[in-house]
Amino acid sequence: MLEVQGLEVAHGDVRALDGVSLTVGAGEIVALLGPNGAGKSTLLLTIAGLLRPRAGRVTWDGEDLRRVSPHLVVERGLAMVPEGRRLFGSMTVEENLALGAFAPRARAARERSLERVYALFPALRERRRQVVRSLSGGQQQMVAVGRAMMTNPRLLMLDEPSLGIAPRLVDAILDSLVDINRGGVAVFLVEQNVRAALALAHRAYVLEQGRIAAHGPAADLLEDPHVRQAYLGPFGR
Ligand SMILES: Nc1ncnc2c1ncn2[C@@H]1O[C@H](COP(=O)(O)OP(=O)(O)OP(=O)(O)O)[C@@H](O)[C@H]1O
Ligand SMILES: [Mg+2]
Repeated sequence: MLEVQGLEVAHGDVRALDGVSLTVGAGEIVALLGPNGAGKSTLLLTIAGLLRPRAGRVTWDGEDLRRVSPHLVVERGLAMVPEGRRLFGSMTVEENLALGAFAPRARAARERSLERVYALFPALRERRRQVVRSLSGGQQQMVAVGRAMMTNPRLLMLDEPSLGIAPRLVDAILDSLVDINRGGVAVFLVEQNVRAALALAHRAYVLEQGRIAAHGPAADLLEDPHVRQAYLGPFGR
């Protein structure tokens, strides 16, 4: 479904991705792990069409996405929850969600999608008329995930959805990804919480300094000496 081949991306003189190849298949949950500055956000932004690669390709169902503009990438079924959420704080929960259903294909499914989002996150149904900035960080992250789901995606990409969120709500958000995936949506998850990410992913890639340093079934990576030493530490995390 999603195929990334030999991707090279630079920010000016800084080479952020240096020959990255990976796939995400239909129905999979794939985690992308790696330290700060490894290039994880750069990779998601490039897949979403927001950054242009210097070399390599991104294909989606065989179509080269390099020439597809970002809003049309979304229309093809590829949605992203960006780092930092990017919500409209003075608008209500439901108004923010509605923004996800702007494109024709998503608009047709709007009511059904809204019901699905409220079923995933009952807290949002109760707060549908509240302005987003009055919500907690975790609830705002639910709105960001919900808005991406309103685009009716086949692949949901998330950039560190648990960052800065209360532990109780981290579980609610990560658990929702399992539900979303059961509904037939593939998930590509960037996550610092390595143990939690590997617990819910089928496969994972480890990105270090712009290159894939390890990849495989999540259960294998949990046992991998390098992954354990670099990301799980003596006390776990
Ligand atoms: N807009 C930018 N301009 C210049 N350099 C950038 C820019 N964005 C990222 N970089 C650099 O590119 C490299 C990869 O950054 P990126 O944000 O993709 O990493 P990341 O894995 O998402 O890190 P983090 O865990 O901190 O979110 C880093 O060296 C970073 O400093
Ligand atoms: Mg990042």
